Amino acid sequence: MAPATPNRRLLVTHALPYANGPLHLGHLLGYIQTDIWVRFQRLVGHEVVFVAGEDAHGTPIMLAAEKAGLPPEDFVARIKAQHKQDFEDFGIVHDGYHTTHSPENRVLVETIYRALDAAGYIARRDIEQAYDPVKGMFLPDRYIKGTCPNCGAPDQYGDNCEHCGATYSPRDLKDPRSVLSGAAPQWKPSEHYFFALSDPRLQQAVADWLARAQVHESVKAKLREWLDAGLKDWDISRDAPYFGFEIPGAPGKYFYVWLDAPIGYFAALKAYCESAEGKKRGLEFERFVRDPGYAEMWHFIGKDIVNFHGLFWPAMLHGATLREPTGLAVNGYLTVNGAKMSKSRGTFIQARTYLDAGLNPEYLRYYFAAKSGPGVEDIDLNLDDFVARVNSDIVGKYVNIASRCAGFIEKHFDGRLAVALGQYEEVLARHRPSEAERALYEQRDFAALIRRAMVLADAINEWLQQVQPWRLATDSSRREELHRICTTGLEGFRLLTLLLKPVLPRLGAAAERFLNIPPLTWADAARPLLDHPINPYQPLATRIDKKQIQAMIEASKEDLAAITPKAQAAPVTDRGAAPASATLSIEDFGKLDLRIARIEDAQAVEGADKLLKLTLDLGALGKRQVFAGIKSQYAPEALIGRLTVVVANLAPRKMRFGVSEGMVLAASHGDGRPFLLAPDAGAEPGMRVK
Ligand code: MSP
Ligand code: ZN
Repeated sequence: MAPATPNRRLLVTHALPYANGPLHLGHLLGYIQTDIWVRFQRLVGHEVVFVAGEDAHGTPIMLAAEKAGLPPEDFVARIKAQHKQDFEDFGIVHDGYHTTHSPENRVLVETIYRALDAAGYIARRDIEQAYDPVKGMFLPDRYIKGTCPNCGAPDQYGDNCEHCGATYSPRDLKDPRSVLSGAAPQWKPSEHYFFALSDPRLQQAVADWLARAQVHESVKAKLREWLDAGLKDWDISRDAPYFGFEIPGAPGKYFYVWLDAPIGYFAALKAYCESAEGKKRGLEFERFVRDPGYAEMWHFIGKDIVNFHGLFWPAMLHGATLREPTGLAVNGYLTVNGAKMSKSRGTFIQARTYLDAGLNPEYLRYYFAAKSGPGVEDIDLNLDDFVARVNSDIVGKYVNIASRCAGFIEKHFDGRLAVALGQYEEVLARHRPSEAERALYEQRDFAALIRRAMVLADAINEWLQQVQPWRLATDSSRREELHRICTTGLEGFRLLTLLLKPVLPRLGAAAERFLNIPPLTWADAARPLLDHPINPYQPLATRIDKKQIQAMIEASKEDLAAITPKAQAAPVTDRGAAPASATLSIEDFGKLDLRIARIEDAQAVEGADKLLKLTLDLGALGKRQVFAGIKSQYAPEALIGRLTVVVANLAPRKMRFGVSEGMVLAASHGDGRPFLLAPDAGAEPGMRVK
């Protein structure tokens, strides 16, 4: 079958993961969708350049690197290597995988910035911002916590209250504290740079782009709503210290990470075009970024970042007279077992944890595909359904066809397929992949595509059940019938392989080896495989064992204690100071990792009259240094050797005297005399307190 459309050239990207932690199954949802679409486009003969890379800049990465004791460049390189391994293992294959902290990106960012400035789209003005005097840096809103001005709940973020839902400015918080140092923030003015999105020329350009862009209607509606409300200028600068690119002509001012991140798509593209492979392919970077007629440009992103890709990015491109995106493919959020991924339930699952449980990465690709429609709905990974679905569809239906037919071909026909299907062609006729399937892939309705594939698989299996090749095989006078039936079954298997190959690339390649054919292309759908030697059949897929799922969940729970909590998970309350809150769900309580600790060493701290510096032994969790305000009640030497209880998953807190990596528990009246908790005899360091 000839392609229905002339060959296209496509640049495809997916959202760049932040280089501050491992990939989890939520990331993989959109990344797998992207890879499936890219493979489909190639299958039908289009030319695709698929690039991505690390999103390397910003405050969280700077702080994470600092905590790891590494220069940010090295820290990012380490995470990049882990991410690349995850991509490879899940069969997500980029042409080029780069980073926003690269020479290519620096040049592109500066060039685009200069073009915007020259066109009058950059404004400069002073703003007041929270400043942490201990840490010596300006604080993003999420690094400020305090008491909600609306309901009085303690420990709320700088911009909204998770307890009552109120939104406010960090200035309204009561008792504001820096999450980094615990210090009260000061308000300081600083000059910031703005991208003038309030300029009507830019808003008109974005509206025009939106009218022609290929974006799901629900996303368009949201973007139009924002446009209609009018865009405000966008703050694109951050003050030192910051990990990013310095703004030309503005010492100490850096580009905000979200300014340089999408330009990172172009940096990755440029690095690839200039690589040996890109040159061999004759790819022209300048034409990619200037001429929409040269290639389509598709960005796959999650629904949380549509404002950046559907408003700011097209405006930047227009302002710098570069081409705009052809379309955005937007994915909803992943839930697991019907709820937000949760560390306490063990459903916050890292890509690596899935693999370590021995689960086949292609099974996750299949399940995500089976649930991905063309829209932006959230997608649930129901783990029972996952097991049932994979075992039934892939093992029980698809692969089963090959295992039912292959043995007879090998045994009775010397491994050679029949020369014709004869009357049995009828079984497959209505199911040969055609324009309908191609359109489903093109629209990213992978769920509908897989439903069709399973209709075909069911049809073949039911038919085999009727014609019973295993009974025919006992009758040597009916050999030709047997030959044609098994050849028809394997032809159906071949069609399924073709249909599912973008979703199951490794299984597809193994099936091609079994069928002894070169990689299938879409055009092969119309040409049945006849009079052809195949290879002996070896099992192509195995069932998921529920124990593997259990192991994955358990390991994800362990991750909780093993990983360092993120800054946003850090409560900044003082012992006893917080008002007793109403009630706590058991999940919330489960977030607390309380452990028995042995005090190995205790010392007074120079210059601190209330603090003792404790060295704690947490058994399997290792050693921790904790500062505790208990000096008034305890002589250091009296503490050495005794057991107490520590909050082990509190975000490390940098104090004037060093980093505190946890909190020991003590009771007290308001008068400040603390009484350290102690467990009963038998408790050992590292035991969990529940
Ligand atoms: N670094 C930015 C993207 C910059 S693109 C120029 C970013 N990084 S991220 O690591 O937070 O997210 C990467 C992608 O994963 C985004 O598309 C995001 O929407 C997606 N997801 C992160 N968690 C997700 C789920 N739980 N479910 C589905 N997608 C999710 O944003
Ligand atoms: Zn509140």
